[in-house]
Amino acid sequence: MDKIKLIEQIKQLKGEDTLILAHTYQPPEIIDAADITGDSFALSVAASKTQAKRVIMCGVRFMAETVKILSPEKQVILAAPQATCPMADQISPERVRKFKEENPDIPVVVYINTNSALKAECDVCVTSSSAVKIVSQLPQKDILFIPDQNLGAWVQKKLPDKNIILWDGFCPIHSKMTASDVLSAKAEHPKAKLAMHPECPAEALQYADVIGSTKAIIDFALSTDEPVILGTERGVADYLIEKYPEKQFYHLCPDRLICPDMKMTTLDGLLECVKGNGGEEIVLDPQTSEKAAVCIDNMLKYGG
Ligand code: 13P
Ligand code: SF4
Repeated sequence: MDKIKLIEQIKQLKGEDTLILAHTYQPPEIIDAADITGDSFALSVAASKTQAKRVIMCGVRFMAETVKILSPEKQVILAAPQATCPMADQISPERVRKFKEENPDIPVVVYINTNSALKAECDVCVTSSSAVKIVSQLPQKDILFIPDQNLGAWVQKKLPDKNIILWDGFCPIHSKMTASDVLSAKAEHPKAKLAMHPECPAEALQYADVIGSTKAIIDFALSTDEPVILGTERGVADYLIEKYPEKQFYHLCPDRLICPDMKMTTLDGLLECVKGNGGEEIVLDPQTSEKAAVCIDNMLKYGG
């Protein structure tokens, strides 16, 4: 069946009780089939404010877990069960417990791109949009920031009065960007502004005009009349180029800024989920879920 027919069928069969969420890194046809598109935390919050009884998450596992933590009463289905974020498991909950035993006065700040068992051991969660604001408000000077060393280093640069202890985690996609990748894109599009995700390393970020989350990058791209090079997973540029053909948007390294896990969702798979046959229902241990919810609530208390 062709893509348009499959999308029609998904929308027809879905019913009012089901909400389909798609992260902006998803393939364009999945975004077309979704009810809401956005960054991971915004999708979880949006889902929690709806009456939907069933939520199908087109993204990676930690995103579906965050939806479930914020809406424990809803049935949450991960459309592509094998889709995980390699960064989400780069530090074990046991390792964090050990750190806290050895350093009881150092708060542990955890990036939202982690699994719920890890969040359950940490003090406060951050997104890439809220990380600087939240870390700046913590009373302590010494802070353990896990797992993304590039995001942590960017926060450290913005907050020189803090002493941020970094972990050696990274996003295998964004961390591959080099100064030379950025300089060649800038040479190709000399009039364009460069917007980059803080999961990229400092050697590439030093040339960016704007550094921010998926949402911040999209907001900037739409707010300016100047051409923009999009230095993040290629789904963002694919989405903006398709939706705003009158604007000038360019990919940075389109062949390498691809998250394979984010491309695992298919229309056939989504159709099976809608029919009640496919995907995987997210079931979290209630104690883990409650502790992870406290970590996320702490982010909201700090205004994240
Ligand atoms: P957002 O939280 O900005 O959606 O980012 C998700 C992600 O996977 C970044 O690589
Ligand atoms: Fe994880 Fe990186 Fe993929 Fe985002 S782009 S889901 S951080 S591997």
